[in-house]
Amino acid sequence: MKPRILVARAIFPETLERLRQHFDVEDNPNDDIFSPEELAARLKGKDGLFSSLSERITPQLLAACPQLKAVCNMAVGYNNIDVDAATAAGVVVTNTPEVLNKTTADFGFTLMMAAARRVTEAEQWLRAGQWKKWRYDDLVGADIHGATLGIIGMGRIGQEIARRSIGFDMQVIYHNRSRLAPELEARANNARYVSKEELLRTADHVILVVPYSPALHHMIGPAELALMKPSAILVNVARGGIVDDAALIAALRERRIAGAGIDVFENEPAFNPEFLSLSNVVLTPHIASASLATRRAMAECAADNLIAALTGGVPPNVVNP
Ligand code: DGY
Repeated sequence: MKPRILVARAIFPETLERLRQHFDVEDNPNDDIFSPEELAARLKGKDGLFSSLSERITPQLLAACPQLKAVCNMAVGYNNIDVDAATAAGVVVTNTPEVLNKTTADFGFTLMMAAARRVTEAEQWLRAGQWKKWRYDDLVGADIHGATLGIIGMGRIGQEIARRSIGFDMQVIYHNRSRLAPELEARANNARYVSKEELLRTADHVILVVPYSPALHHMIGPAELALMKPSAILVNVARGGIVDDAALIAALRERRIAGAGIDVFENEPAFNPEFLSLSNVVLTPHIASASLATRRAMAECAADNLIAALTGGVPPNVVNP
């Protein structure tokens, strides 16, 4: 008998087809987001879960599904999963690292440039018919070239962002749990390791790429925003919850920082509606990894992990300690 799995959200048909070759699959063609109760009911008796960021894997869910052996998340982040509880329950947890590094780095750069050069604000202005004549100070923004880029979280995505900055003659400073090896710093545009406070004080543009953990909840709050230059741009392609959204909204409204590019929100897909009243923020719906090729690669990577986990192989991307 084939192992039984639940594919919690809609995925590429070819990935689903591949999973069907190995497993007895229950899928979710309507792409409903299951409540915790419905997820537990559907997962009962299943050996594996192909999950996304919208499924919360809690001790309660794990206790209700004792047959479960593997949870394979189609994301590099896995803060939706209680990994300690999964480990205690003997459940393998995997993620999809590497395949999205470059696409996410591209998008971090995109948001930084869009916010610094006020791209969405300019488009709204044009669409609203406000473009009557050329004026020397209409929609002036900040330069990217020659600026100091501060990267918080210098993992592989952070390093990719730093490499992109070489073509823009930027200087890179970074803050991370630990300092990178000298050869990695050299490849990352000779990035210089600094304290978080120095980074916030001196960077022209700050990009957040740290994985979420409860210890980093609101790591950017009122005190941190107060350290930033009034001309600075803040970009978050990491996770909602890293930034205190209410504090960011206040800083943007009072122009204590110049702008922001935000792809992730506390409580998404809900978000603080006050963001919508601000012209100095570029808002996107958690799409940093959303190129077609990368989303396909993420789906295949999650499938590789699930197939290995339930057919006696070694999943390539286990995150249990
Ligand atoms: C991830 O992979 O963690 C992203 O946030 C979703 O693509």
